[in-house]
Amino acid sequence: MGDLEISFCDLSITTDSEEKVWEKAKELVSRNGFILGTEVKEFEENFAYYCQTDHCLGVATGCDALLWAMEGLGIGKGDEVITVANTFIGTVLPIIRAGATPVLVDCDPQTQQINPSQVAAAITPRTAAILPVHLFGRLAPMDELLDLAEKHGLIVLEDAAQAHGASYKGKRAGSMGKASGFSFYPAKNLGGWGDGGALTTSDSILANKVDKIRNYGQSKKYYHDFMGWNSRLDSLQAIVLKEKLRFLDQWNENRRMIASWYYESLKDSDFTLYYEKDGNEPVHHLFVITHKDRDLIQQKLTTKGIPTGIHYPVPIHKHECFADQAFTKNVSLPHSERQAKELLSLPMHPNLTKCEVDQVSNYLLEL
Ligand SMILES: Cc1ncc(COP(=O)(O)O)c(C=O)c1O
Repeated sequence: MGDLEISFCDLSITTDSEEKVWEKAKELVSRNGFILGTEVKEFEENFAYYCQTDHCLGVATGCDALLWAMEGLGIGKGDEVITVANTFIGTVLPIIRAGATPVLVDCDPQTQQINPSQVAAAITPRTAAILPVHLFGRLAPMDELLDLAEKHGLIVLEDAAQAHGASYKGKRAGSMGKASGFSFYPAKNLGGWGDGGALTTSDSILANKVDKIRNYGQSKKYYHDFMGWNSRLDSLQAIVLKEKLRFLDQWNENRRMIASWYYESLKDSDFTLYYEKDGNEPVHHLFVITHKDRDLIQQKLTTKGIPTGIHYPVPIHKHECFADQAFTKNVSLPHSERQAKELLSLPMHPNLTKCEVDQVSNYLLEL
């Protein structure tokens, strides 16, 4: 068989689903229901139920979801929020926008996830919250972090932007912390047809507050209780997301099967693979391996037509935009720095076939 054309990700839905979305969109347009209509409410109810939380608030982006969680909980100036350096910048910018100070810790090289003993060492009297990231659709070590938080009276906020449907001992990502931020950026496991995000929580007071924050701080039209912002999930996106949510478990199941094919083919290779702890149900938003010759390997795969990604090439404390920020001064996080140099994301989406995965793995094994 000749070479297959492999995509890095695939955002398609079935023709049937697409038709349903267009039908509902037409109906929406016919009654001008664009902002915070029944579609948003229905999606919020479904997603809250899916995430095992009492509330879900649709907002403009995943960044906003984290920002409103902090603002709603009164985390801001003078507070420190501990998070990990090997993440997307969207984890850290909301901390800064909230007026708080990020405190970066390293990842555990065995799991690529935030290291709880480093979190413990970083706690100070100013620490207000811990913000773990379920990176690549794999669970952060929530038991240890929740224990630490309880011991020190801290809030845990989950960055679940990459982990729709992941679970730990039956508990869904987004249900374990005080509040969580999800992103519906199109390439996410649950992605819209544009930007979108959601905050999940079982705290009714917070939910009420964020409901207002995202809508100009108003309690009723043109009556503003406090200075909010405009950060609402579009009704059109809610239609897409509600339709796609019906398939999320199946898509995540497919991702786990695809991951198992990669694990099987690459287990004896000199690529480092990352395995789950017992009780973790990951959703493999990305399938990431590491190797010291990452750049060369990526180049070779590119010439073979295999698309790959690097998530992420720069750890948070090394970004140019933070060069003059005190929280990056004299910060050395060797595991995160090494990950940035060595990690490689392989093609991963729910429609990858065994033949395609074999083709990627065979190329890797031949290198
Ligand atoms: C780990 C992580 N945090 C936060 C975000 C921010 O989400 P958004 O792009 O929807 O603002 C993303 C999304 O890309 C992400 O991957």
